Amino acid sequence: MICSYAGLFTFLAIMAKNKKTACGGIFGMSNCSQRMHWTSNQFQNASNVPDEQKCKELMQRYNMLPHIVEHSYRVCQIAVFLASTLYRNGTHVNIALVRAGSLLHDITKTQSLVTNEPHAQSGRELLRALGYPEVAEIVGSHVTTEEGDVRLPISEADIVNYADKRVLHVRVVSLEERFKDLKDRYGKTPEALNRLEAMERAVTKLEKRIFSILAFNPEFLTAFNHLSPYASPDSLMTIPDLTDQARPTRK
Ligand SMILES: [Fe+2]
Repeated sequence: MICSYAGLFTFLAIMAKNKKTACGGIFGMSNCSQRMHWTSNQFQNASNVPDEQKCKELMQRYNMLPHIVEHSYRVCQIAVFLASTLYRNGTHVNIALVRAGSLLHDITKTQSLVTNEPHAQSGRELLRALGYPEVAEIVGSHVTTEEGDVRLPISEADIVNYADKRVLHVRVVSLEERFKDLKDRYGKTPEALNRLEAMERAVTKLEKRIFSILAFNPEFLTAFNHLSPYASPDSLMTIPDLTDQARPTRK
């Protein structure tokens, strides 16, 4: 499922690098005889990073509500896609870590609906206790965004944080739409509104950093709305009627 994105990632990465496609369009792959295969070892897990099956088990064990599971899979689709394309463009990120961090970022969200606990913090504590310290740090930093040091490379935590800001429930939206929803729901006091506006500025800067490396624009990610959140992005190639707006824009 999520781990089998190889073909699409490779193709998009090549397209991004060359800023054109040799196969007559991103979604017209059927006659492409030069399709390449994902051969790097970047999907291999470190011992303390749970694989997709283990993440699924944890989601069940901690009784995540179905719509939160669905949201998490969509965030994972976006995060793994970004991580893979960034990797192919020279940013060394651990994709297995991105996958686990995104699938588990809301691991304690369901219980927080009852307890009102800050779920990023409780998720971090839970995953540390389970023996996944790297994933714990990603989960612990997925809610708030601070202006990162532009001299540092994009990190796994940056990618998960950004992907979560692009997914409203299960739909991929713009940062503007996502933050409008956040402000409507949580910006009830001037202080809360100020915090959200500062976060929006920081995420917008993060978006610029990410897409300065890639050869398609943030809007392209909305193409994933044509897929089930559980589907492999390879399915994108079978969609016949994507609008030009959904296609990557060459820079
Ligand atoms: Fe989320």
